[in-house]
Amino acid sequence: MIIARTIAEVRKCVAAWKKEGQVVGLVPTMGYLHAGHASLVDRAAAECGKVVVSDFVNPTQFGEGEDLQSYPRDFAHDCALLEAHGCDLVFYPEVSEMYAEDAATYVEILSEMPKQLCGKTRPIHFRGVCTVVSKLFNIVQPDRAYFGQKDAQQLAIIRRMVRDLSYGIEIIACPIVREEDGLAMSSRNTYLNPAERQAALVLSEAVFLGERLTEAGETDAAALLAAMRAHIEEEPLAKIDYVSAVDGVTMMPVSKIEPGVLVAMAVYIGRTRLIDNFTVGGTADDC
Ligand code: PAF
Repeated sequence: MIIARTIAEVRKCVAAWKKEGQVVGLVPTMGYLHAGHASLVDRAAAECGKVVVSDFVNPTQFGEGEDLQSYPRDFAHDCALLEAHGCDLVFYPEVSEMYAEDAATYVEILSEMPKQLCGKTRPIHFRGVCTVVSKLFNIVQPDRAYFGQKDAQQLAIIRRMVRDLSYGIEIIACPIVREEDGLAMSSRNTYLNPAERQAALVLSEAVFLGERLTEAGETDAAALLAAMRAHIEEEPLAKIDYVSAVDGVTMMPVSKIEPGVLVAMAVYIGRTRLIDNFTVGGTADDC
């Protein structure tokens, strides 16, 4: 596996691969990799001749007071996982390689979409995500890019960006990977102490409850969300940021539960903000 720290190295490798006619897959990550990331790399390796993984904690997507400084990092562990899952090149740049000191150009969707759900409390987050993902697309020029359904709003926003900016890149959504007890895998789970780790199960429990109620025929979003919120509120360590039902493409709130609706939540467990979701009827391109 090649470890590339500069944009020039990535460009050189990918150009050589493209000359050979290889299909190139990109898995953008912020490192501290777990089985959820591994599932994206596995899918990319199964579908593409060459797999590039970026491992970069992107400062522009963290707001003031968020966890940029404390975000977990372990590059040696990441490399071992990536080698084992068939990654060909890991891009591990310094912040200065990605952003000139006076960088002032951003990619931002100017609609209500990034202001919904996580955007309500993280107003600059999706501008940072779009900017870095767009830079990664320009650097790697992949044929396909792989994203997890856990970050469902991020995925919808990236799809919109790809459409609006005419990137000729296929975006592949991969399902949420869960711990055995149901907790959605996240690098931020590492912040949880044992009591919080136990309390964090309310998120997946609320997701499973929502799925069960939907399957049983509940179509009223307010009733569904009330039942899910009531379950979360039983847990003293949990504080709801949002539990919402939105259109799976536009991210705008809906009142009726029907196929394609995204039911998403963000919940603080102690000081750690966790997210989880499900899509009614499943997602179109679940792998
Ligand atoms: O989902 C993430 O880990 C990040 O938001 C991403 C897509 C790698 C951009 O920094």
